[in-house]
Amino acid sequence: MSTLDLFLKHYRGADASEILADVTSNILAVEQELETMVQSSVPVVQEVGRLTLRAGGKRLRPAFVALAAKSLSSNLDPQRLSRLGACLELVHMATLIHDDVIDETDLRRGLPTAARSFGNTISILSGDVMLARSMTILAEDGDLDIIRTVARSVVEMAEGEAREVASRGNFDLSEADHLEILRMKTASFVECCCHVGAQVAQATPQDVDALSTYGHHVGMAFQIIDDLLDYQQPPEVTGKPQATDFREACATLPLIYLREMLSADERAFVSREFGNGVSDDEIRMITSWMDQRGAFARALGKAQAHAESAREALLRLPESEHRHLLEAVIGFVLDRQA
Ligand code: IPE
Ligand code: IPE
Ligand code: MG
Ligand code: MG
Repeated sequence: MSTLDLFLKHYRGADASEILADVTSNILAVEQELETMVQSSVPVVQEVGRLTLRAGGKRLRPAFVALAAKSLSSNLDPQRLSRLGACLELVHMATLIHDDVIDETDLRRGLPTAARSFGNTISILSGDVMLARSMTILAEDGDLDIIRTVARSVVEMAEGEAREVASRGNFDLSEADHLEILRMKTASFVECCCHVGAQVAQATPQDVDALSTYGHHVGMAFQIIDDLLDYQQPPEVTGKPQATDFREACATLPLIYLREMLSADERAFVSREFGNGVSDDEIRMITSWMDQRGAFARALGKAQAHAESAREALLRLPESEHRHLLEAVIGFVLDRQA
């Protein structure tokens, strides 16, 4: 099922057949742009780009750019929109390639990661090429405000990843510090995509703020759900290995909330296993505690609260079918299994 079909399961607006044709043509144009963007004169770099692209992915970032812009204006240059959307997806692809090196992950989108297939060095350099290519595209577009928005967010994303790495192994990481890492590494970039969409539509400061706020909260909900799926779902469902966060000693909300619900002995056991070659059976036990003692439910509640704030931000925009689609994306983010 395509990402658009998944959004539509949550669509509550009027008949959307006309805008759907429009959204579909944007999706196809983004794919074409991406094909061009991953070309390189160095065959191995091109191969990393091509395989990363072919592995699929939800293409959420270009969807945010397009829907945000279209929620405010019907007078847009479709080529500019698909180019900027593809450019931001290219940044996302680069960060995933780097993230899989950092997290030592073998599987993404149900396939071997670039790091697994090509090794860390080529993966890091190929990711760098993608990031540099995205800068070229932004420079060609030439909008300084958009360049500033993207540059600020890419800095935050990299700093967020670095901050997460620096917090690894800290079993007692505070909820506040953890949430700030999520904001920096994930929500900031979703916010950026919505902000860029608003900028393309030459939005008023009020509308920029509404869309950016929406993006921030959707991004937070998205990452919290991602961290729940990491514990709850097998690789066949997510396309990623299970319990990577625990194995890599990365404290996320399910663990942060479980900590409070453990006896002294249980806590000593869980903290000893954290990042220390925990067995599958032990992971199953820890996961069942997260479930039975309400840690999963509490994390889900946090994601739902962000979803609600995202909905409230959208209500500040004029009503339109595209706004309803942005609302449908919130439902999808909460409901998703992959
Ligand atoms: C994965 O993002 C990285 C996170 C921020 C959790 P997505 O889940 O959007 O990745 P793809 O592009 O669909 O694979
Ligand atoms: C995703 O972070 C990478 C960025 C947000 C830059 P995670 O490590 O939490 O996501 P997955 O689970 O690998 O997709
Ligand atoms: Mg990862
Ligand atoms: Mg990571």
